[in-house]
Amino acid sequence: MRQLQRLLNQHCFWARDRSLSGLQCMLRGSSAIVTAWRQDDTLVGFARATSDGVYRAVLWDVVIANDEKGQGLGRRLVETLLSDPRVAGCERTYLMTSQSRGFYERLGFQSVTTQNLMRLDSHTGSAEPDRPEDDGQGLANGGPSAETVSRRLP
Ligand SMILES: CC(C)(COP(=O)(O)OP(=O)(O)OC[C@H]1O[C@@H](n2cnc3c(N)ncnc32)[C@H](O)[C@@H]1OP(=O)(O)O)[C@@H](O)C(=O)NCCC(=O)NCCS
Repeated sequence: MRQLQRLLNQHCFWARDRSLSGLQCMLRGSSAIVTAWRQDDTLVGFARATSDGVYRAVLWDVVIANDEKGQGLGRRLVETLLSDPRVAGCERTYLMTSQSRGFYERLGFQSVTTQNLMRLDSHTGSAEPDRPEDDGQGLANGGPSAETVSRRLP
């Protein structure tokens, strides 16, 4: 759990400072989880999905450690997640991304331009901040901070 916390802290601007109890709750509430490990038992990849098993699934928190990027690991991680029965059985799978659109397009996803991404933050003080500038991209074109991408089963 601490390795997951570290991986998210280091590589996911949207998932920093998640508590261990919060992460445990997150894992329990996920429908499918895929991890990638180095031989020395270091966690280097993580991805998860929530799903109703029939109509809609959403991918969350897809990440590969910096020193393992660019070797096809991210593709394998997402393909494994998509092949999980809880995700593969859904008629449509969504995800949100602010800087990895090309990565997901290579996996068959396409940008959704006909819908708006909307959000409602909790008032408990634990809501994730929406800071697209943190990923180095900013809002250069004044567009939304995250794009919704969907993949339909053939
Ligand atoms: C996005 C991420 C998961 C990709 O992992 P990776 O292991 O480097 O990706 P792969 O090596 O499997 O790349 C697969 C293909 O996507 C391409 N690709 C990888 N990252 C890309 C990006 N950010 N934008 C466009 N294309 C990308 C690769 O060039 C490769 O193309 P090819 O099949 O033509 O050779 C990884 O860069 C990451 O963890 N980023 C930080 C967290 C993040 O942004 N996650 C996604 C948020 S939803």
